[in-house]
Amino acid sequence: MEKSSVNPWEVSGNVDYDRIVREFGVQKIDDSLLKRFEKIAGESHFMIRRGIYFAHRDLNWLLDQYEKGNKFFLYTGRGPSGKMHLGHLIPFVFCKWLQDVFGVELWIQFTDDEKFLFKQNMTLEEIQKNMHDNMMDVIALGFDPKKTHFLVDTKHAGIMYPEAIKVAKKLTYSMIRSSFGMDESSNVGQIFFTSMQAVPAFLPSVLKNKKMPCLIPHAIDQDPHFRLTRDILPKLGYPKPASIQCSFLPPLHGTDGKMSSSEEMGAIFTTDSPKDVENKIKKYAFSGGRDTLEEHRRHGGNPDVDISYQYLKYFFESNDSELGKIHRKYKSGEMTSGELKQITIDKINEFLKEHQKRRKTAEKQIEKFIYKT
Ligand code: TYM
Repeated sequence: MEKSSVNPWEVSGNVDYDRIVREFGVQKIDDSLLKRFEKIAGESHFMIRRGIYFAHRDLNWLLDQYEKGNKFFLYTGRGPSGKMHLGHLIPFVFCKWLQDVFGVELWIQFTDDEKFLFKQNMTLEEIQKNMHDNMMDVIALGFDPKKTHFLVDTKHAGIMYPEAIKVAKKLTYSMIRSSFGMDESSNVGQIFFTSMQAVPAFLPSVLKNKKMPCLIPHAIDQDPHFRLTRDILPKLGYPKPASIQCSFLPPLHGTDGKMSSSEEMGAIFTTDSPKDVENKIKKYAFSGGRDTLEEHRRHGGNPDVDISYQYLKYFFESNDSELGKIHRKYKSGEMTSGELKQITIDKINEFLKEHQKRRKTAEKQIEKFIYKT
């Protein structure tokens, strides 16, 4: 099998999630935790039910706290290196549901400093332009402005930096090197950066002068930052943040790696037109169908490797019985690849039509979401 790599700045190869669970030291979400979670939430979300959110750290502890009346806050983020694609929306869609069912606050960090430090050819100005655009995508998902706070690393440095240096004082170069593989040629900002990503996991506790549990939804690539954060926060007198990890929405060309903005033809962006979506799915979405129609009818397709099917499963068909029907028909050969692609194109376009409409009005709301110090 091709070697895979998963870290905050690179995801490649065939990601073996069982191996990641062992290597990263996260826990799989098992049936009893799923049932407990759904019972306390009062409802179920297809992303956790289908195992897209597959792992966690300390979720049982977080639920214990919640049941004792100790409400948690949510923390997630975005590194504004470019346009947002459908994969980036997955943690935000899940956070929106969590915010609604648990009635909790959500803190969203925009790491303009990170992208400046890690993207060799981008200016801070370009990154901040992307950030403005990305904020519109996040707002378009329907967050409650009274309970949702945007933190911008360079803008909120006044409240974040004093906390970041407390983290940095406990983080050594050797911890960073072994977590991220950095070396002497890495710039010093890159080595410092995890200290900034750790801050929102306890900043609300600082601001409210009350130690509050934190839950961080994210894709598994961000876990190394939070493994370090969890080591350090107890040393500063704060609880370890709990976290919940999803797998990656795959790129158009196959199930290896993740949908990524660095590949224009591997990703569907939130601003793509209906025609772009149609072209991308028809031309590039890897198909699990057979070479000829006759063979397909006889042997059926393989939904596990079919990208159109995967997009429905991850995001665009929330109804289990509809998804099950598509699975059966495609696997038996009753449904062709062309028909499956058309269903996916229609579903994505239906979502994007609404999203793009909401994006237009979102710009006026940005100020409401930026945390006021
Ligand atoms: P960024 O901007 O790379 O990604 C934003 C969020 O999207 C997740 N993600 C994906 N999820 C599913 N499928 C994909 N193909 C996919 N690609 C990316 C990421 O895991 C992330 O949750 N350093 C962070 C920003 C950040 C952050 C956080 C993220 C700051 N604080 C707290 C999560 C939680 C970054 O550059 O994410």
